[in-house]
Amino acid sequence: MSNAQTIAIVLAAGMGTRMKSDTPKVMHQLAGLPLVDHVLSGLAAAGVSKAIVVVGPEMADQADRFAPHATVVQTDRLGTGHAVKVALDASDVGGSDVLVVFGDTPLLTPETINALLDCRQAGAAAAVLGFRPPDPGAYGRLITQGDEVSRIVEAADASPEELSVNLCNSGVLVAGGQKLKAWVNALKNDNTKGEYYLTDVIALAQADGDSCTYTEGQVDELIGINTRADLAVAEGILQDRYRASAMAGGVTLKDPSSTFLSHDTAFGTDVDVGPFTVFGPGVTVGSHVTIKGFCHFENATIGDRAIVGPYARLRPGADLATEAHVGNFVEIKNARIEEGAKVNHLTYIGDARVGKGANVGAGTITANYDGFNKSHTDIGDGASIGSNTVLVAPVKVGEGAITGAGAVVRKDVPADAIATTEAAQRNREGTAKAYRAQRKAVKDSKSKDG
Ligand code: UD1
Ligand code: MG
Repeated sequence: MSNAQTIAIVLAAGMGTRMKSDTPKVMHQLAGLPLVDHVLSGLAAAGVSKAIVVVGPEMADQADRFAPHATVVQTDRLGTGHAVKVALDASDVGGSDVLVVFGDTPLLTPETINALLDCRQAGAAAAVLGFRPPDPGAYGRLITQGDEVSRIVEAADASPEELSVNLCNSGVLVAGGQKLKAWVNALKNDNTKGEYYLTDVIALAQADGDSCTYTEGQVDELIGINTRADLAVAEGILQDRYRASAMAGGVTLKDPSSTFLSHDTAFGTDVDVGPFTVFGPGVTVGSHVTIKGFCHFENATIGDRAIVGPYARLRPGADLATEAHVGNFVEIKNARIEEGAKVNHLTYIGDARVGKGANVGAGTITANYDGFNKSHTDIGDGASIGSNTVLVAPVKVGEGAITGAGAVVRKDVPADAIATTEAAQRNREGTAKAYRAQRKAVKDSKSKDG
């Protein structure tokens, strides 16, 4: 049977009370993507393309985001076994195998999913994925006899002897759909938590004379997220995976441990990343790019041979063309910086285009928001924007034009024009010394009085 005929049930309805959050547990994020989406992408990568997602009532309106997968609402959350029953009652799984995965176990890799499916396809009625965490704590324990799992006991119901078993239940299991249906229909809730435990299907299968086997996976892909502390551990594991894969793909990370990547960060080759840089979701970086340290990016594109930072912030819609330079304390939002343009110091460019080869002087601001509307600024190719220019949008600076230092540009500047707006400077010769003497006399008389 190929994996394409296996149907996954993703359990994502739990209250997640231990997270102490208004957000459903499976919607908490790792590397910018909700836990449940990590699970779905792991399934897809393993070739399991059909899934039924069991959600709680607070996510009943989320069916669209899971499409083309089916969504089933578990109104009363009576346990993991009940959640699987709700999914099977609502769907026709025919003769397919059913793979149950937990939405709170996001680090599962396609290789491990495949190893478990192979284990079932070797002939057992059910196969369970176990692992050996250093601290088995609250995980269910697999009670085994040779290659067989005789039953799974939940930590809350386990004897001291059972608790000393370090082979734990990851929650992932696969079985024939029709048998699984019969087993979950026979579950009872006579246990410490008063829940219908999915784990009890193993003892039911064994009682029917059905063989249940197991395979073991790695701890760092099977940790279940129940608390914020678990979330932080999982984030660390995932970041290490992404960092390793970026480096393997030709990216130098000067300090991997302070480089934070997202699930979709895309790099070309020969990219050099300095320390303390955050790549939020939606960032694409070309090749031969230098990113000096201490930068923050999200939903931004950086073209080939661009130089960015240190201390640059690229916000959504920042689009840097080939060889653009964006320097220290510069913020770019919803703006295209064309080929070879330079925005190097202390500048805000929002809702704008900076033309090819243009140079934007230190302290320049696009005044893009008047409290009601956002307006666009267009800086022509080859233009020079003087230091501390305020570009009051909507406004256009023509090709090759110049704005003087400190200009407040409210009207369009024609191509090749020089725009200045400063008041004329007056120099009062020979007055500085006398001015200082007068200020000092005032200060001295005050300190005597005091
Ligand atoms: C579960 C297992 C335990 C295993 C551990 C691995 C059971 C009874 N226990 O415990 O053996 O070691 O996972 O991480 O299966 N859910 C629903 N509906 C419900 C209850 C839960 O959809 O009514 C979902 C949750 O959203 C979650 C998953 O099922 O994604 C597991 O539930 P959780 O409460 O986290 O179970 P654990 O206590 O972690
Ligand atoms: Mg859990």
